[in-house]
Amino acid sequence: MRPLAIGSIEIWPPLILAPMSGVTNRTMRALYRPFGLGLTVTEFVSSNALAYGSRRTMEMIDQHGLERPVSTQLWGDDPSTMALAAKVVRECGADIVDINFGCPAPKVTKTNGGSACLRDPDRCEAIMRAVVGAVDCPVTMKMRLGWSDDSLVYVDVARRAQSVGVRAVTLHARTAKQFYKGAADWEHIARLKRAVDVPVIGNGDLDDPHDAIAKMRDSGVDAIMLGRATLGNPWLITQIRDLMEGRAASPVPSAPDRLRFALVHYRTMVHELGESRAVPQMRKHVALYLKGISGAAMLREQIMRLDRAADATALIEATIERLEASALVAA
Ligand SMILES: Cc1cc2nc3c(=O)[nH]c(=O)nc-3n(C[C@H](O)[C@H](O)[C@H](O)COP(=O)(O)O)c2cc1C
Repeated sequence: MRPLAIGSIEIWPPLILAPMSGVTNRTMRALYRPFGLGLTVTEFVSSNALAYGSRRTMEMIDQHGLERPVSTQLWGDDPSTMALAAKVVRECGADIVDINFGCPAPKVTKTNGGSACLRDPDRCEAIMRAVVGAVDCPVTMKMRLGWSDDSLVYVDVARRAQSVGVRAVTLHARTAKQFYKGAADWEHIARLKRAVDVPVIGNGDLDDPHDAIAKMRDSGVDAIMLGRATLGNPWLITQIRDLMEGRAASPVPSAPDRLRFALVHYRTMVHELGESRAVPQMRKHVALYLKGISGAAMLREQIMRLDRAADATALIEATIERLEASALVAA
């Protein structure tokens, strides 16, 4: 296995955390990075909002300095606005600028952004050309297979990307119309790898360390990107990194240790975002950390009802104590 090269940036391991809007903020990325990620990507950022100087958007592109290299993802349908936004994010610390041609959410596609761009490959090309021309760092692009089954444009758009100087292409192997239905089709990812010379990053449904490595080898991709399966389970990242580095996959920590990490995640989010923003965001994270833990269904219900961080963290601490006490009894 080789490092992923994006322009002159060398990435090891070739393991990337997927951008996930509303989830992969800088706190989350900084916490998950040490598990073994080679690259992290910001949540997607609206090029229009950046052009207007929206404060919340500026916060989204702000970096800790704890994650290098980091890629900032932009979406929009206007080449000159995307070029301007690319300059802004580069000045704010992006090592790589990534273009989103994948988002299927109606609030994005109704303005022709995200995956809607794939309905017009000429526009994709114009956007990519403008962004590549605007910045002195590598530009990458992330897309779906196409808008729908009858318009699978990914090879065409990737070849255009390559011809205008985009340095790597990520493919989430579903169409926009599919949203998250069905399975990601890795045959398409293998086909893309054979069709272009730029590095290809495969994405979609990777949730098991051995299967992830098998998909990487079978498709021939240069790197893999993990999304939903890492949520509440960053140990998956370590397991894949272990296999990439030729070791056996580390065991997943005990339930109390997993919950101890959930507590770190919770407290860091409160520290960074303040209680009123962190508590709603942490409900979904805690629900995922609780997966596989005895009594999880009831705990999830309780966590959903709590509005104070102190109550939620006390509940997690009590759960750790209960799990450890029952382990002692069992021993
Ligand atoms: C909550 C959520 C938010 C997402 N936001 C983004 C985003 O901002 N930019 C993007 O390119 N993809 C986004 N995606 C798609 C993921 O990056 C990834 O392509 C998709 O989840 C498939 O990978 P997975 O099966 O490993 O999760 C999002 C996915 C989820 C579940």
